[in-house]
Amino acid sequence: MINVAVCGANGKMGQEVVKAVNSAEDMTLVAQIDIFNGQFATIKDAKNSVKIDVLIDFTQPASIYENALYCLNNDIKMVVGTTGLSDSQIEELKKLSEEKSVACLIAPNFSTGAVLMMKFAQMASKYFDNAEIIELHHNQKKDAPSGTAVKTAQMMAEANGDFTKGNCPEKETIEGSRGGVAYNNIHIHSVRMPGYIASQEVLFGASGQVMSIRHDSMNRECYMAGVLLATRYVSESNEFVYGLDNIMN
Ligand SMILES: NC(=O)c1ccc[n+]([C@@H]2O[C@H](COP(=O)([O-])OP(=O)(O)OC[C@H]3O[C@@H](n4cnc5c(N)ncnc54)[C@H](O)[C@@H]3O)[C@@H](O)[C@H]2O)c1
Repeated sequence: MINVAVCGANGKMGQEVVKAVNSAEDMTLVAQIDIFNGQFATIKDAKNSVKIDVLIDFTQPASIYENALYCLNNDIKMVVGTTGLSDSQIEELKKLSEEKSVACLIAPNFSTGAVLMMKFAQMASKYFDNAEIIELHHNQKKDAPSGTAVKTAQMMAEANGDFTKGNCPEKETIEGSRGGVAYNNIHIHSVRMPGYIASQEVLFGASGQVMSIRHDSMNRECYMAGVLLATRYVSESNEFVYGLDNIMN
């Protein structure tokens, strides 16, 4: 049995994770941690009361770095779904996880379909010189762009050096209208409105053709197979992993 703690247990994702862990035959839910009305208010409180094998964190961008530092320094293996970590924070956590030999899997997207979308986008990047990403989320999402968009852009940038080849010089008459630009000139556009859960479209253009790769999450259950897969993986590992794709064979 894997003793699992859920941090952010009263949040939208946390509640879904609690249900998923409760229905997994090989897992026991030992702690529901949340600063708002949790069984435990902090990870430290939970650790002092129960034995935790793996902690699953779905809290908020402002908390995740501190939560991860605490877990890795206190021998608690982690599955991190919370987004908003910067590249340098991820690098620091990788170093710490390796130094302490405490497993940590961070995935900006636990949906298996979304992981495939990212892989397909990376494959297509070799064959298209122009690409942009549009990500669409509910309007309670605190960070932009989404972690999935960032990870997609990173994977695409490994396959192509510039995604705006042939574009003429541009001037924005409304600031931000061309989106955020990173990772070899990939423009990322973030849409926030009620109705969406999490969607992303990657557009590829070349002379005479346009191709789009799209994934839509219809509800939060779509993440649970990936979260449980990661929890089982981490329970038997001492390593740092970034991205669910690395454990999907
Ligand atoms: N990786 C993925 O596949 C994926 C999918 C969906 C959402 N997310 C991310 O998961 C995070 C949570 O999303 P949500 O929609 O459930 O948010 P939410 O606001 O509904 O829930 C967050 C919960 O965490 C609690 N919390 C905040 N800081 C805490 C702390 N320090 N300790 C304990 N509890 C704390 C809050 O009280 C709240 O109940 C966000 O960063 C979101 O972007 C990731």
